[in-house]
Amino acid sequence: MKKHTVLVSGGAGYIGSHTAVELVEAGFDVVIADNLSNSDLGAVEGVRRITGVEVPFVEVDCCDREALRTRLFEAYDFDSVIHFAASKAVGESVRKPLEYYRNNLDSFLNVVDLMRAWGRPNILFSSSCTVYGEPDRQPVTELTPRKPATSPYGNTKQICEDILRDTVAASEGLRGIALRYFNPIGAHPSALIGELPRGVPQNLLPYITQTAAGLRECLSVFGDDYPTPDGSNIRDYIDVTDLARAHVAAVRRMIEGRCKEPYEVFNIGTGHGVSVLELIRRFEQANGLKLNYRIAGRREGDIVAIWADPTRANEELGWHARRNLDDTLRAAWAWEKHVRGME
Ligand code: NAD
Ligand code: WQD
Repeated sequence: MKKHTVLVSGGAGYIGSHTAVELVEAGFDVVIADNLSNSDLGAVEGVRRITGVEVPFVEVDCCDREALRTRLFEAYDFDSVIHFAASKAVGESVRKPLEYYRNNLDSFLNVVDLMRAWGRPNILFSSSCTVYGEPDRQPVTELTPRKPATSPYGNTKQICEDILRDTVAASEGLRGIALRYFNPIGAHPSALIGELPRGVPQNLLPYITQTAAGLRECLSVFGDDYPTPDGSNIRDYIDVTDLARAHVAAVRRMIEGRCKEPYEVFNIGTGHGVSVLELIRRFEQANGLKLNYRIAGRREGDIVAIWADPTRANEELGWHARRNLDDTLRAAWAWEKHVRGME
């Protein structure tokens, strides 16, 4: 049987590196492309060490169309791309909208256009539950209406979804899937790859692990007066290795011609909402430690609660989240300790 090659743009990043591992372990050839704007070669080395495969890495900016053409499309015979390459900090996108629109849209336009031009049929896009905004009803299904984006970052996800939908509709043989991730957390069980934010973490779990490691003095819980059982926000925290497997399932669906529509959307979450205070408690219990935290004011722009209905992904992709939250929280802590040389 032909061995399929998958181009993983942004593959040196957090979710891309975990997905590269799962793809190789599922029997795919992988090419990683990244401009290292928010990552370093350590993740690529981690992927190689975990898999035992010298996965090729191309340092390239996806906004540079000519470089993509010559260094990826001419050089490698992939039929699928998973496009992770994007800037992802919501707050920064509000301060630097043009940089976000330019990076996230130009890179995606280039990739989609070259896939079409070179007859490479399968495009998988990293979307986000951010497209739902503050939903009127929980859990959210793929039919839950998208709300107007509240940040340039969120807007780029909506626009890229639309670009993909419209392009595959107009291009015979092209297929697109958008995976809407909920809140990815955790690390590979080997502790060789994981999330490594630059500067002060904006997301909850890296802030928790850095506080536990002593890099941050105290975690601020952004609000305990929301209309939820314990007053803190509720999210659907999805293990990054589970999320990575969803990409393998989606690529297979495209390659095997099982897509029901040229463009499809799937929620990738566990289906369970967990509050901020609950996540802290579970982290403490799973790792046998106490976390220094305090209740702070609400963070502007936070939604109260959101969690996924993953039925469509369960039924159509045959994918289920299976890692238990305690294992995920232990893996996140093991990774933080590994990074800090704590054991
Ligand atoms: P990340 O920053 O760790 O990974 C993104 C990678 O893309 C980085 O390695 C970065 O260097 C690279 N990159 C950025 N712009 C590039 C460009 N122009 N050319 C080449 N490489 C470029 O982020 P992540 O958490 O792994 O997220 C991956 C994707 O998933 C992003 O598209 C993000 O928006 C999306 N997503 C992330 C989350 C989350 O909470 N982490 C949730 C939903 C969706
Ligand atoms: C989770 C919860 C915070 C930090 C963001 C993006 C979204 C998606 C995922 C990409 C919230 C609380 C956090 C802290 C806290 N990314 N918190 N103290 O806001 O759900 O989603 O990442 O697409 O688009 O908006 O994730 O990890 O920032 O926050 O109390 O120091 O933790 O208020 O309730 P969020 P998060």
